[in-house]
Amino acid sequence: MDFKEKIRSIKDYPKEGITFRDITTLLKDGEAFREAIDAMKDLVKDEAIDKVVGIEARGFILGAPLAYDLGVGFVPIRKPGKLPADTHSAEYELEYGSDTVEMHVDAIEKGEKVLIVDDLLATGGTGSAAVEICKNAGADVIGCLVLIELDGLNGRDKMPVPVYSLMEFP
Ligand code: PRP
Ligand code: ADE
Repeated sequence: MDFKEKIRSIKDYPKEGITFRDITTLLKDGEAFREAIDAMKDLVKDEAIDKVVGIEARGFILGAPLAYDLGVGFVPIRKPGKLPADTHSAEYELEYGSDTVEMHVDAIEKGEKVLIVDDLLATGGTGSAAVEICKNAGADVIGCLVLIELDGLNGRDKMPVPVYSLMEFP
């Protein structure tokens, strides 16, 4: 299947100069959604994985079915103030200012092999913060798996772990 044609591109959203890669057009197509999850799973078929870590919000949509399919646990990385128990946090730089992500302290056991999942890698800021938070929890981060990689932003170079992507857009 040509997954790229299932992605809708919207110019100047959320602000001028950004072309937003909208995955909802892929998600609403049952066959495309299922095949995309299967193809993402195939990209990491040689890796041993103990847990999938999904990044809020779109990373949940892809990470949860992957974890279910692999038969491993799913751990959410969330925006600040959303998780009820003790958390680790990591800050990352945005174009203007910074943002923080959080994960429960007891979500991962030391030495567990985790796969980080998100919909899209842009600058790599969010992905790097997710790697940092998992490493602080003692995880062995085996990689970051995304549906879409924006190849003009060199986010891959910023990532301290292997990046697996199903498709690339400028
Ligand atoms: C988007 C996307 C990634 C991140 C990628 O999330 O889902 O998580 O940006 O950008 P980066 O590589 O430059 O960090 P967003 O913060 O828009 O959150 P959402 O999934 O809740 O919409
Ligand atoms: N997150 C960061 N950049 C994005 C883009 N261009 N499209 C969709 N999500 C994004």
